[in-house]
Amino acid sequence: MTEPAAPPLPVVRTVADLRATVSGWRREGARIALVPTMGALHEGHLSLVRLAREHADRVVASVFVNPKQFAPTEDLDRYPRQEAKDAELLAGASCDLLWAPSPAEMYPDGFTAAITLGGPADGLETDFRPQMFGGVATVVAKLLNQVGPDVAVFGEKDYQQLLVIRRLVRDLDLPVQIVAGPTGRDEHGLALSSRNAYLSEPERAVAVRLNAVLADAAQRARAGAPVTEVETEAVRALLASGFDRVDYVAVRRADDLAPFEAVVNAPARVLAAAWLGRTRLIDNMAVQPGPC
Ligand code: PAJ
Repeated sequence: MTEPAAPPLPVVRTVADLRATVSGWRREGARIALVPTMGALHEGHLSLVRLAREHADRVVASVFVNPKQFAPTEDLDRYPRQEAKDAELLAGASCDLLWAPSPAEMYPDGFTAAITLGGPADGLETDFRPQMFGGVATVVAKLLNQVGPDVAVFGEKDYQQLLVIRRLVRDLDLPVQIVAGPTGRDEHGLALSSRNAYLSEPERAVAVRLNAVLADAAQRARAGAPVTEVETEAVRALLASGFDRVDYVAVRRADDLAPFEAVVNAPARVLAAAWLGRTRLIDNMAVQPGPC
């Protein structure tokens, strides 16, 4: 027997329609969760929707390819867009509503607000994509204000982004609980990403090495190797595996991404960004505490 298809997912495209639906749920006393995305959904995104469902009675997913977090040289125009398929996948993951505003609805003419960040937003991704977290913080603050959820779910896949959002919510007293979901990976350990669609077959074979190199780096850091040595060795291993360029490999404190002086002496995370042709991949992994 085949599974019956999930009923089509309601889609709203204006803040007014979104608020009307959410107010109705509020009147029923529902607890509401939001999962913000840029679409081209994969199993990693859907695992966040299912996690959201564990925390709430109603789940809203947003799909909005946010122009403010792309530099003019980046892949905004070629970023994959597939709303009908995304809606089907979300319905299958028991999402209740798709919030899909147009760029004009999100950023009406004359929009000028901007959020300035520091702390976990400093360094790493910001060294290579200086516009990104300002754009992410702006859109996430707006999405949280538009939906007004009790809970919002973000992936550890974008670990620095997760810490930036936690800090944003704390600093601006936004009344929402941030829940983190683990990174969904394919059978080879490659972190699922909408950008994996850009990879050729030979590039994919190299891409799977990122996870293995990070696992090795995490193991060495945990065993007490000097952090700079761990980072240098991981960069060398990525280049030797066939990556064209490595933006960074960094072993940082898990709570605020501050660097270590010499060796890991607190909960840590190893984070990396590397290029295969025109595709930039990021991944990260916990450095498990305790002696080996
Ligand atoms: P996007 O890259 O579409 O990711 C949406 C959410 O899914 C983020 O919280 C991200 O960390 C999570 N995610 C991506 N790949 C994942 C994986 N393999 N496993 C688990 N979770 C994964 O991140 C963004 O969009 C945007 O910056 C956004 C927050 C929506 C603001 O525009």
